[in-house]
Amino acid sequence: MNISNDKILVIDYGSQYTQLIARKIREQQIYCLVYPYNKIDNKILEDITILGIILSGGPNSVRDKSSPNLDKKILSLNIPILGICYGLQLICKEFNGKIGETTSREYGHAIISIKKKSLLFDKLKKINQVWMSHGDHIEREPENFIITSLSNNKVISSIENNDRKIFGLQFHPEVYHTIQGKKILSNFLFKICKIKKKFKIEDFLNLKIKTLKNELKNQKVICGLSGGVDSTVTSFLLHKVIKKNLYCIFIDHGLLRLNETKEVEKFFSKKFGKNFIKIDASKIFLTKLKKIKDPEQKRKIIGETFIRVFEKEARKIKGVKYLAQGTLYPDIIESVPFFGGPTAKIKSHHNVGGLPKKMKLKIVEPLKELFKDEVRNLGKKLKINSNLLNRHPFPGPGLAIRIPGELDNKKIDILKRVDNIYIKYLKENSIYNNIWQAFAVLLPVKSVGVMGDERTYNYTVSLRAVTSVDGMTADFYMFNKNDLTEISKKIISEVKEVNRVLYDFTSKPPGTIEWE
Ligand code: XMP
Repeated sequence: MNISNDKILVIDYGSQYTQLIARKIREQQIYCLVYPYNKIDNKILEDITILGIILSGGPNSVRDKSSPNLDKKILSLNIPILGICYGLQLICKEFNGKIGETTSREYGHAIISIKKKSLLFDKLKKINQVWMSHGDHIEREPENFIITSLSNNKVISSIENNDRKIFGLQFHPEVYHTIQGKKILSNFLFKICKIKKKFKIEDFLNLKIKTLKNELKNQKVICGLSGGVDSTVTSFLLHKVIKKNLYCIFIDHGLLRLNETKEVEKFFSKKFGKNFIKIDASKIFLTKLKKIKDPEQKRKIIGETFIRVFEKEARKIKGVKYLAQGTLYPDIIESVPFFGGPTAKIKSHHNVGGLPKKMKLKIVEPLKELFKDEVRNLGKKLKINSNLLNRHPFPGPGLAIRIPGELDNKKIDILKRVDNIYIKYLKENSIYNNIWQAFAVLLPVKSVGVMGDERTYNYTVSLRAVTSVDGMTADFYMFNKNDLTEISKKIISEVKEVNRVLYDFTSKPPGTIEWE
């Protein structure tokens, strides 16, 4: 889909922050695309709606012969360029500056002072806190560039050639800890690139409806529905376009939250009528998971069983041509393998996506240009209930990965009730929306307690609540003491199988959000 708004092209050299650059630009309602440096083709370079280019950071050193270079074609476009970290060093190398190695990597907070007037720093204070992360630094600025700021340990922190509109920052404006980072990016977008046409979700919606109509015509589409935000918005959007040709399959694996199956069923059967197909596969899943302790094995079993059940149901609908998936833009950016290096696999994620290849269905991914917050906005435009849109993320394998060790019906039932008390409390006390994700974990540990005059020997639960922007990193949520006391009291008094409640004070990293 060609979005006709003014755009920014972010060229990715492998930085862990590239996605963040894109998000920070989208937050200012400017459309942007991320392309790996080695996938830049003429088509993208000929797009006249691209009004600025950002060169990301990256793990390499421009001093290495094998490191990625700056494509000359990019410079010949004569549109504003902002290089960040590795991007700055590429610019420096290209224009005959000198890059040297820093004896120790500079990582973390730094203070910079602005030395020269610059459009990029318009309306900023002279002294600013920024976030640095680099090994190399500029030893001599490139020809026809001026130094616009220096860090407190005398590192050149920014350079520019205002005539050619090429700018470089040694620090990361996209990172939260660069206090004026948003202002710097907005100066680049609006004062340097002079972008005018903002990205509005209603324009996206209208354009998407048109392209989907064209693409799908009168063909049948199936969609795996989990009741989560992405699959819900995907199904509503498709339904708006193809109405009765959309078939939604909801597989209940028995590992959903308390009452969730009923709620999903009620809501979606009202919307989609007979085309909403609910499959109760809980027995199949539970049988396969019996006696399984290993987290990865659990995930694999659930993923595979899911595909099998879905496939079987999907085959019953005749003449289907498409499979709809709620893929988002970050999934696409992340799936591009950079530099051939294997990233450590932490967990095998299971989604409704990644489904039956064998069925030879064409894939339709109507949200693939969007970030999560934009999907929620789109959901609002499609008039989806805000309770559904603002729900915390819930993992595909469900409660199975919140019961470390073996699971059975009894444990699932205990966890459902505990989780429900916890989440209900957060909602009733207006805490829910301050948290990215909250849930309980049922531990395979029993301990001794006393209730009234009686000894108890019951289960332990651990509560988790984290704040995050995208689930990639997270901080544990700092409850006030009263809330934790109340939640703990409620759980112990209402769920007789539990006599001890813990709170998980682990951020990600080093922990992950889920326990398995
Ligand atoms: P972790 O535990 O990896 O989780 O820190 C990060 C985010 O991803 C969610 N999660 C999943 N989502 N399928 C999903 O759709 C999965 O298999 C899965 N595993 C974890 C998790 O809830 C958190 O929001």
